[in-house]
Amino acid sequence: MASHRQIRLGVSMIGLGYHLAAWRHPDAPAGGNMELQHFVRVTQAAERGLFDMAFLADGVGIRFHDEPPGALCHTSKNVQFEPLTLLSALAMVTERIGLVATASTTYNEPYHVARKFASLDHISDGRAGWNVVTSVTDMEARNFNRDKAPGYDARYDRAAEFVEVVRGLWESWEDDAFVRDKASGLNYDPGKLHVLDHHGPHFQVRGPLNVARTPQGAPVIVQAGASEQGRELAAATADVVYAAAQRLEDAQAYYASVKGRMARYGRAPEALKIMPGIMAVPGRTRQEAEDKYAVLQELVQPVVGLGALSNYLGDLSGFPLEGPVPEPTNRRMHSRAQIFLDIARRGGLSIRQLYLAVAGGNGHRLVIGTPVDIADAMEEWFLNGAADGFNILPPWLPGGLEDVVEMVVPELQRRGLYRTGYESRTLRGNLGIAWPEHRRAGVKRAAIAQALGSAAQ
Ligand SMILES: Cc1cc2nc3c(=O)[nH]c(=O)nc-3n(C[C@H](O)[C@H](O)[C@H](O)COP(=O)(O)O)c2cc1C
Repeated sequence: MASHRQIRLGVSMIGLGYHLAAWRHPDAPAGGNMELQHFVRVTQAAERGLFDMAFLADGVGIRFHDEPPGALCHTSKNVQFEPLTLLSALAMVTERIGLVATASTTYNEPYHVARKFASLDHISDGRAGWNVVTSVTDMEARNFNRDKAPGYDARYDRAAEFVEVVRGLWESWEDDAFVRDKASGLNYDPGKLHVLDHHGPHFQVRGPLNVARTPQGAPVIVQAGASEQGRELAAATADVVYAAAQRLEDAQAYYASVKGRMARYGRAPEALKIMPGIMAVPGRTRQEAEDKYAVLQELVQPVVGLGALSNYLGDLSGFPLEGPVPEPTNRRMHSRAQIFLDIARRGGLSIRQLYLAVAGGNGHRLVIGTPVDIADAMEEWFLNGAADGFNILPPWLPGGLEDVVEMVVPELQRRGLYRTGYESRTLRGNLGIAWPEHRRAGVKRAAIAQALGSAAQ
């Protein structure tokens, strides 16, 4: 077991891969995003590669505008399984890999989220993680009785209280609350049940949660959000951050900014693992890697490329494809829109060149090369204050992931940067994150517990 710092790896399993044209790749199962067996193969490959976690991004609705018209019907990113349902099934066919699902704080209730993730943690024997997001699109808003998504401050305000309530509910029971003594008839120790009784601006939640304290103490909290509000929420509550950056200096600035905020919350910097996304495309030679990537790039239709840009920059179809990227009038997700514009401005790219540049990584880092090139790229960020690990974004699935497992993982192991066996049975244990002490353990709530007990008789 390694005691020195090592790289953590996750895999993003969304769609048939992360590249815009993934579903058209000759080796991708075109309907795999609606087939359990496809995800079985993906998670088992990641587990062979000793990944910390399999990660499912999610939206509560189709999150892509049909701009220009025809963009949506040419992509596969329009249907996907509900993440917790899928991960519960995958828990049965995997043993060690962490299972992380995205759930929105904008359109859920904390009690539902607390209960579902606590259940997944029990079902998977301590491998559940919750990716906390605020839902940014108006398309999702329209599925929940509104026309527009709430503004930044409103979303993050609700998110902060939401996470606090969920964590409180996960502390409804102390670790050893259930005695289940058949002889005396005592099922649980009433002094070890805690009623949350939360009263806040957004939520009134009494509790307790009707799921016992979980095998990890509490599911791992992942956070994805890059704004001031997003960074603050991560520093206060997250165990893992999923981030997007193109360049070392940007990733370093983000890393320092989030870790620098943690002391204010009484947290050590090591308590949070920052894992930027990276699209890694390995080949035995650089040429082979480039050729693999070119297969996908050639499958990007202009309408799909423009559609991908429209999600962040608004519809640019009225401008010439070979002309410069105009200043957008309709930025849709600020942090990613800025990454796109930086790429365009730095390289002096045309609209077509920009959509091809982001077709793979969607604003995340893209590395194409030999296993040595890719390990070098990871090592540089890992050793220079930019990352604690990476969320691998395979260009297509499952082949793009299997390439990373077979070629890049052994190279990282050879350098001593990556595990050669799982250290723990739980996601928290593998990530090297401390057991969450129960903040109210030992506080006697016997009176309340007894009142609840007699009501249930
Ligand atoms: C790397 C990354 C991944 C994200 N994944 C999701 C996701 O799966 N589902 C979702 O609804 N929002 C997702 N978001 C959106 C954030 O929750 C947030 O709404 C958005 O990034 C805008 O806030 P920000 O400016 O703080 O980033 C993601 C954001 C980032 C940066």
